[in-house]
Amino acid sequence: MQDFDWWQHSVIYEIYPRSFQDSNRDGIGDLSGMARRLDYLVGLGIDAIWISPIFPSPMADFGYDVANYCEIDPIFGTLQDFDRFLEEAHHRGLRVILDFVPNHTSDQHPWFLESRSSLKNPKRDWYLWRDQPNNWLSSFGGSGWEFDEKTGQYYYHSFLKQQPDLNWRNPDVKAAMYNILRFWLRGGVDGFRVDVMWLLIKDDQFRDNPPNPGYRAGLPSSHQLLPVYNSDRPETHSLVTEMRAVLDEFPGRVLIGEIYLPVQQLVTYYGPDLKGAQLPFNFHLLQCAWNAEALAHSILSYYDALPAGAWPNWVLGNHDQPRIASRIGAAMAPVAAMLLLTLPGTLTLYYGEELGMTNVPIPAEQVQDPAEKNEPGLGQGRDPERTPMPWDASPSAGFTAGVPWLPLGDDYPTINVEALEQNPSSILHLYRHLIRLRRTSPALVHGKLKLVAADRHLLSFQREGEKERFLVLLNLGYDSVQLPLVNATVVISTYLDRIAESVNGSFEIRPAEGLLLRLP
Ligand code: NOJ
Repeated sequence: MQDFDWWQHSVIYEIYPRSFQDSNRDGIGDLSGMARRLDYLVGLGIDAIWISPIFPSPMADFGYDVANYCEIDPIFGTLQDFDRFLEEAHHRGLRVILDFVPNHTSDQHPWFLESRSSLKNPKRDWYLWRDQPNNWLSSFGGSGWEFDEKTGQYYYHSFLKQQPDLNWRNPDVKAAMYNILRFWLRGGVDGFRVDVMWLLIKDDQFRDNPPNPGYRAGLPSSHQLLPVYNSDRPETHSLVTEMRAVLDEFPGRVLIGEIYLPVQQLVTYYGPDLKGAQLPFNFHLLQCAWNAEALAHSILSYYDALPAGAWPNWVLGNHDQPRIASRIGAAMAPVAAMLLLTLPGTLTLYYGEELGMTNVPIPAEQVQDPAEKNEPGLGQGRDPERTPMPWDASPSAGFTAGVPWLPLGDDYPTINVEALEQNPSSILHLYRHLIRLRRTSPALVHGKLKLVAADRHLLSFQREGEKERFLVLLNLGYDSVQLPLVNATVVISTYLDRIAESVNGSFEIRPAEGLLLRLP
């Protein structure tokens, strides 16, 4: 795969650092803990790690409220710990992608403290201050505007009031943020996942958003309006191109954008001449209904929309979304694994997906996520998908010698790395096999995607490379499916049996079974 950039044939693994591995008994994961688990990640076969924010933060939104972009929060360690982690990851051939949060800072960031100190402060214009609020809403509930008593103006926050939005029309803000990118790039990080890339610029006239005709009671309050004037503004693209240009000052780095938009808008983030984000995250699978027709449609519509030369990518989970095994059922999770790992392009896994981890119900008194605290009961809370990684069956699952910051799932005595490693037909082994196959069969990474089809519960497609041809058959139902098929060989079943079985004639696909077959 020498003709491709590393990130094109990569499986990226998202670590939510609070929940991966604790090393100092405070119940919260940290860099030294993560470093201890690097060999596990090598064994899994992934290529790159994306770490959710580890920068100093009051943790109002668990690190997505950054108070210093060029340091490490003591909860996670020190800059030296990070350098050591990076070195150890690189030593094992793993790339490291950091989370860049450019839309907003913490309200404790020195820039904001200065900005709010007086109307005349040189940093006043670094944030979005207005005499009167408009109707824009915060994604975490209520108005997006907060009144500042001292200076008599309102500032805008897309998220919590502790996360004031930066003014990306101000050239000094841009210069400062680009220098932060350079700081980490010089330090050797391999790229960035950019938080809420599509929200960076807001309407210069601050026009009110129109009402959302689809809003109904029970939806989060932020859905009351259509985000016409505070998201996906045309000016965003020049910022993305500028960020990309900064990355291009350093060889071999990748710019990934967090973007929740319909495909037609999403793909514009590849930028003119593909000089925007190399990977605008494709979240369409994780939002798609789990049936063959909807999935086929999602895959094809994304594929059709890709600009010439744009590199596809796929995601089934992240720290903001219900875990896939809870969404589709644990018995179906292996089929999801096969779907993801047989699609073309770059793939992103969320930690614990390889264990079939499910959402952990969080008792009201243990809720941590501000999204749930602000609007309880609307399904906004993200704690359930952020619980500690279960490593073994010991108390606290080998995650910590202290009390974990979020509860472990009740199933951790059986659903943990050690137990699944001992079971040769576990989902963990399935992930390992499938990831390894992508290395040995480049057709799975960059071969053509053909004949995507849905027939009742069966989703099928082919992958065709120069030397190899594969057929993927995914039974999304719980009844067996009988198919006529000639001259094919099973490469792998999600049941992890029938390997190398040759198929010639009528052939059964078992309930919730995925099959990868080699075609002549
Ligand atoms: C998107 C992040 O993924 C999410 O966790 C965070 O709360 C918001 N952006 C605000 O930064």
